[in-house]
Amino acid sequence: MNKISQLISLLGGTGAVAKELKIQPSAISNWKKLNKIPSSKHKAILELGSFLNINIENFLPAKKLRDFKFKILLIISGGVASYKSLEIIRLIKKTNINLDVVMTKSAQRFITPLLVTSLTEKKCYVDLFSVEDETKMNHISLARSPDIILVAPATANIMAKLANGLADDLASTILLASFSKIILAPSMNPVMWNNLATQENYKKLKDRGIKFIEPDTGDMACGESGAGRLPEPKLIVESILSDINKDQTLASQFKNVSILITAGPTIENIDPVRFVSNRSSGKQGFEIASELTKRGGKVTLITGPVNIPFPACENIIQVNTAHEMLDSVYKQLPADILICNAAVADWKLVPKTSSNKNFDLNNKIKKTNSSLLFETIKNPDILATIAKGNLRPKIVIGFSAETNNLKKNAYSKLISKNVDLIVANNVSNNKVFGEDYNKVCLIEKNNCEEWETQSKKSVAFNLVNKINNLLNNYNQRGINAK
Ligand code: CTP
Repeated sequence: MNKISQLISLLGGTGAVAKELKIQPSAISNWKKLNKIPSSKHKAILELGSFLNINIENFLPAKKLRDFKFKILLIISGGVASYKSLEIIRLIKKTNINLDVVMTKSAQRFITPLLVTSLTEKKCYVDLFSVEDETKMNHISLARSPDIILVAPATANIMAKLANGLADDLASTILLASFSKIILAPSMNPVMWNNLATQENYKKLKDRGIKFIEPDTGDMACGESGAGRLPEPKLIVESILSDINKDQTLASQFKNVSILITAGPTIENIDPVRFVSNRSSGKQGFEIASELTKRGGKVTLITGPVNIPFPACENIIQVNTAHEMLDSVYKQLPADILICNAAVADWKLVPKTSSNKNFDLNNKIKKTNSSLLFETIKNPDILATIAKGNLRPKIVIGFSAETNNLKKNAYSKLISKNVDLIVANNVSNNKVFGEDYNKVCLIEKNNCEEWETQSKKSVAFNLVNKINNLLNNYNQRGINAK
């Protein structure tokens, strides 16, 4: 299924989308065939996604700074550093970035919305339940339209609300309803900053992919000193501008690179009712597919049956068995990169009677049979087959799920399967399957990196950086050889 077909199916199917957009179903079928939506319809599609509460931005071409006006929403929460946000506004106003501002109730004790409006020359939003605001720019539009939401200063309170999903005012509701990149610039008393509760919230938010502009250390307005001061506005704005540039560069890092990813478990039927499979959730492979798509890669995800939402990527192929997965991988070759993350069932189990006779597999095996035996038939090793074959992609990456001798076993898979990199993890005690966190070890021929425990999203981000290095080295070797 191509990317646009996936998107239409997420939005309710051809008929439903045609009805919502008041256009002919044949036009939608054409979009699916061409794998493209005309730019005149992007806004309507985004609005439909937003109405249905589905994040569909990754399905459409990424916004480019030069094509669109970049939008930042600044949320000012209440602390002695609130006044510094006025300088942040002044500096952002000097760029061509479109800025909106939301203030919390306590921020208004330090500076007034009128002061903010006099700088932005725009309405400053303060109230979740304003009838007037809801008709013009409701809290969902405020949450969805910016490319970046910057909270500066971010108090311990607003961090705690976001970390725990509280939405009791305009600012916290926007933060919860947003798909945008969120950047927090905390500012508070040093004891509050170092409090275990704040530090746990900080870690939680960081693990979820929220970016922080770390507080400075020094003398505070309250007379104490330590970490908790809002960095200078100039540094905050510079950091954001450099982030925007970095994101734009990353968005095309894998442009024109084709990537095949296998993910999830495979299943092998025993009879029409029963099957053997494993505990793989597909989460890590889906995060990698999503990250590579964000960076401009042409990603085909070949996945076994999973119970998690599909990531946005060019192409998704659903399979059941190891043989189907291998066939699908073959059909998608050649590709530049292969990442085998799937937990492939190593054996097919063929049921046999006690006298070694086959069952009729069209029918359910009844328990009235005196005994049931299984013959095991080895499945193909997809990773090794492709990595040793004629159509080997430039970079081949495998995973290694181990319960003991992690590095030794992973290294022997690296060599025996002829791959460039093995991402190994310890799966004993159900520590990885279905979880959101992962602790991995990266094994190469002459290198071994042990990464600290981090979210699967973060593993995907760092792994994609690593893959980028491997690809650059490969391309460099090619240039040197010429
Ligand atoms: N793999 C594969 N096809 C298989 C088995 C494994 O493509 N039939 C790939 C996996 O996707 C993974 C790597 O090989 O990238 C290692 O898989 P793993 O299950 O850890 O090890 P196995 O090779 O199956 O060996 P063992 O189960 O004995 O550890």
